[in-house]
Order: sequence, then structure tokens, then C-alpha cells
Amino acid sequence: MVGAGQLARMTHQAAVDLGMSLRLLAESPTDGAALVTPDVELGAPDDLAALTRFAKGCDVVTFDHEHVPTEHLRALEDSDVAVRPGADALLFAQDKLAQRRRLQELGIPVPVFAPVTSVADVARFGEEHGWPVVVKAVRGGYDGRGVWFYDEPPDSLPGPNVYVEAKVPLLHELAVQVARRPSGGTRAWPAVETVQQDGICVEVVAPAPRISPALSTDAERIALRVASELDVVGVLAVELFEAPGGLLVNELAMRPHNSGHWSIEGSVTSQFEQHLRAVLDWPLGDTSPLAPVTVMVNLLGGRDTDLTRTLPPALEAVPEAHVHLYGKEPRPARKLGHVTVLGDDVVEARERARTAVRVLRGDDE
Ligand SMILES: Nc1ncnc2c1ncn2[C@@H]1O[C@H](COP(=O)(O)OP(=O)(O)O)[C@@H](O)[C@H]1O
Ligand SMILES: [Mg+2]
Repeated sequence: MVGAGQLARMTHQAAVDLGMSLRLLAESPTDGAALVTPDVELGAPDDLAALTRFAKGCDVVTFDHEHVPTEHLRALEDSDVAVRPGADALLFAQDKLAQRRRLQELGIPVPVFAPVTSVADVARFGEEHGWPVVVKAVRGGYDGRGVWFYDEPPDSLPGPNVYVEAKVPLLHELAVQVARRPSGGTRAWPAVETVQQDGICVEVVAPAPRISPALSTDAERIALRVASELDVVGVLAVELFEAPGGLLVNELAMRPHNSGHWSIEGSVTSQFEQHLRAVLDWPLGDTSPLAPVTVMVNLLGGRDTDLTRTLPPALEAVPEAHVHLYGKEPRPARKLGHVTVLGDDVVEARERARTAVRVLRGDDE
């Protein structure tokens, strides 16, 4: 796996159960996943020599992020490395403008968007489609970095490679994950509701509690169609907006995703195990939920979070909580871990998971 953050760390955990061990390309020996597996190549994801060294001896190369340049992915493919998902698919997870265009071509609903090269382009878009507008980085954005909201024309563009889209009046944000094998088999988890604060995912409720079965089926159908049309291999996460007019696709990730962490305990097969099965072209696992409700709450760093001190009281306060810590240095608003609680009732499970996270952050002190 290229990249050694928490997604690689949790994928490694799933690999261990299947008698495997991930080989990693890590930027630093203290990356969350590099701390827990011996087979680590150090190097940057945009360094072709490092990628080539790393890929030697890998059965399959897959990813915990989108930072490998397309030309490097193609170079690996040209030297017969099994890159999964492949470069042609990954492009649409890396480049948000290409993604919007491709989905639009496929007739899949997306927010109204336009390329921009100047402030005047943004102003024109706002005049035509209404304010506020959202300007987004074409590449490299995550956790809301790379997303800017404007009520009026900005003084300058927030970055060199951006595009603009309409601000959607959101009813809910949803996500659907599907897995797809190279030989074509697919599985979908039920649609989940995601909650974002300041562009960062803070909570996920699975299955999505406030949408109709028809909308959930719709979301699933969109995700399966995207997976097959773009020839995605592995796990695909589709972020969706529920707008007054129906569903719109927000973005795609072709890897395990924060919206699927609930599946570790909440589903028969976790997204991490499923990603391995899919990229290895092995039989996919059952995606059924194991409880009426699973709530996942992210642990974002507080002002002086000290997990070695707060972990025991958190375990004491919520014994049914599944706590996952990523081995990262605490920093305010940084994703340090997550907590999952299964239950029968959304409000109750959410409260229990939130309580565990509050204690972990040290908010109650
Ligand atoms: N067009 C939009 N209209 C309304 N809200 C948006 C829009 N685009 C993004 N957002 C909000 O910002 C969040 C982050 O945007 P997203 O495109 O998913 O970027 P990131 O890659 O950082 O997750 C979304 O989850 C949503 O809450
Ligand atoms: Mg997003």
C-alpha cells in the first residue's frame, strides 16, 4: 500500500487476519501504519524511483491516498506492476474537475460547476447561478482544505488550480461504499449518513437513518454504476448530497474511506478486509450490518489532548465502545482516532460514542 496513514494502518490490521502483511511506502517511519508493520520502504509518493523500488516484490499495489502522479502510475503499469485501482480509474479520484466532467457525461447528477482561471470567472458563475458559490482545489484537497465558500466575488483565487460550483442546500450528506473485483463481482454496503463540521467528517451513522429505502437504493445504484463505468477495483466511496431535487454526487474516493470505518465492527466484512479481497481478486465478503444502528464518531485533537492519560477513563466510561487510535501525534483538529458503538437506537448509540470521544479529547477536564 502506498501511503502509511490510518487507512493503511487499519488495512494492515485486516491483512493480519488473512495471514498477510502489508508492504508500505511511507514518508516517515513514524507514520501510523509504519509503526505497526516491519515491511516499510521510505519514500515520497511522487518519487518514481521510490515507487519502483517499493513495487518490486508486491503482488498488487494499492493506495491509502491520491497523491501518486498519474504519469508515475502509468509508468508502474507499463512495467507490469498490478496497480489497483488502475491509473485510468484513479484519475477520477485525484482530479475533481475531471471527475465532475466524467460523471456529468455518464448522466450522473452533480452540482452545477465550471472551470475557472480568474476571479472574473467566479463572479460570472455567481451572477449566473447565484451566490454563495464553492471554489475547490482540483487536486490534493481533503478534510475541507481545498474548499472555499464565497458569498460574493473574492478578491483573489484561493489557489492556482481551482474550479467553481454551486453551493447546494444540503438536507443530508450521505456516502455509499461498494467494492469491485477485477473480474467484475461487486458488493455494496448500505448508504450511511455523514456529518461534516468545517469540512471535516465528524460522525457517521449506518445505515443512514433519515432517508427512505428508495433513496438508499438510488444511492447504491449510483455507486455501483460509477464503479463499473470507471472500472474501479477495490473499495469505492461515493460522497453524496441529498438536495431538495434529489441526490448529487459530491466526490469519489477509490480506497477505504472515513465513511466506512463503522464497518470494522458494524458489518460482517469491514471495508479494509474487503479492499484487500477486491484488489487481490478474491471472493468478496458479506456487507450486511450486524446491528440496527452503528455510530462512528471521529476523535479530532483538542487543545491539549493526551491519550495515554484519557484512554483508561474513556474505556471506563463507555465499556461497549470500540476505540481505534491511529498512533498520531495529537494536534488540534487532527484525526487521531475514532470510536464506534453498535446499538438499537441512533440517539443512544450516538450519545455513547460522543461521550467516549469527549473523554478521550480531554474536553471534560
Ligand atoms: N457544492 C457544495 N455545496 C454545499 N456544501 C459543500 C459543497 N461542496 C462541499 N461542501 C461541504 O464541504 C465538505 C467538504 O467538501 P469535499 O468536496 O467533500 O472536500 P474534501 O475533499 O475536503 O472532503 C462537504 O462534505 C460538504 O459538507
Ligand atoms: Mg469529502
